[in-house]
Amino acid sequence: MKQFSPACERNKGPILATLRDALSTSGLVLEIGSGTGQHAVFFAEHLPQLQWQPTDLAENLPSMHAWAAAGDAANLLEPRVLDLFSDPWPVTQAQAVVCINTIHIVPWVGVERLFAGAGQLLDSTGILFVYGPYRYAGRPFEPTNKRFDQCLRSRDPESGVRDFDAVNALARAHGLQLVEDRAMPANNRCIWWMKKKQVASNK
Ligand SMILES: C[S@@+](CC[C@H](N)C(=O)[O-])C[C@H]1O[C@@H](n2cnc3c(N)ncnc32)[C@H](O)[C@@H]1O
Repeated sequence: MKQFSPACERNKGPILATLRDALSTSGLVLEIGSGTGQHAVFFAEHLPQLQWQPTDLAENLPSMHAWAAAGDAANLLEPRVLDLFSDPWPVTQAQAVVCINTIHIVPWVGVERLFAGAGQLLDSTGILFVYGPYRYAGRPFEPTNKRFDQCLRSRDPESGVRDFDAVNALARAHGLQLVEDRAMPANNRCIWWMKKKQVASNK
């Protein structure tokens, strides 16, 4: 029932340190692709000013429930089903959307759905925060990320390490402005964007 991811144990500390810089305000955080639920309980316990809403496909909810029950976070909300390809989403308004190691798993249409959904539901100045490996134009593709990309594509040709420029263009198209692209251990990145303030029109 309680699934365990060694990768989550390795990366949760460095990601938490970066979340502290990226998500400075209070409010609701929608996590998409929460996986085992390990990150959700850890981040909720260490960021008590935030309400943490974990979500994933239905098959992952039992493990997310088990981790939540074993933890001690009053600000961790009941796990909900959110499939990027299904409407409606269980949350319609949030201060932040967090998506860890999922953009390279879902087909590109799923990535488009993530950015479109975040662009719609984020508050003005809300944050979309992603973690994972990326490929950059004009920079060598790190051998570990290249092997990982080949492995992903051999299992599912629609998955794969995404191009930063394509992802950033998608963000801009949905009203999200790049705040920071930070190097993380093991050739991963934390990247976050802020929803642009709506300029009021008096016409
Ligand atoms: C590599 S795992 C990452 C899980 C977790 N964030 C972590 O870092 O361990 C990718 C996650 O994406 C989820 N996922 C796959 N397709 C999805 C979809 N269509 N909508 C939402 N989540 C999806 C999977 O269920 C899985 O939990």
